[in-house]
Amino acid sequence: MILMSKEKVLQELINKAKESSKKAYAPYSEFKVGAALLMKSGKIYTGCNVEFSDYLALHAEMNAIGTAVNNGEKDIQVVIVYSYSSPPVLPCGSCRQKLNEFSLLYEHDIEVIAVNKKNEQIKMMLSELLPVGEIKIEKKKN
Ligand code: THU
Ligand code: ZN
Repeated sequence: MILMSKEKVLQELINKAKESSKKAYAPYSEFKVGAALLMKSGKIYTGCNVEFSDYLALHAEMNAIGTAVNNGEKDIQVVIVYSYSSPPVLPCGSCRQKLNEFSLLYEHDIEVIAVNKKNEQIKMMLSELLPVGEIKIEKKKN
C-alpha cells in the first residue's frame, strides 16, 4: 500500500467534494454543495445536495453519509464541505447531528473542513460545532 501524506489526502478529498458539488441539483436555491467523507478504511465517499419542490433538500453531507452507510461504512474521520460562498459553509445543525451519530458510535471526534473555490478554509472539530450533541447511550456497531 502506498502511504499518502495528510496534505495529499486532504487535497484529494477537496477535489472529490468539488467534483460532487458540480453534480448538485439545486434549482431552488442555486446553492451547490459537495461533501467528501474520509473513512477509517481510507475510502472516500461523496455526496451533493439534491433539492425538491417541497424545499426539503437532501444536504450534501447527508447524501455522502447515506452513500457511506450504503457501502457498509460508518467510521467517518474527516468531512469536507465544498461550496461557492465566502466564507465557505459549515454543516447545518441537522447535518452536525447526523455526523455526531457516528462520532459517538466510534468514540472519536470528526474533523470538519469547509472550503470554497478561492480555497478559503475553515477547519473545526465536530465537538466544537456541536458541543453537547447527545447523551451517550449504548449502541451496537451493526
Ligand atoms: N446545503 C448543503 O447541502 N450543505 C450545507 O452544509 C449547507 C446547505 C444545501 C441545502 C440546500 O440545498 C442549499 O444548500 C441551500 O441551503
Ligand atoms: Zn445540512
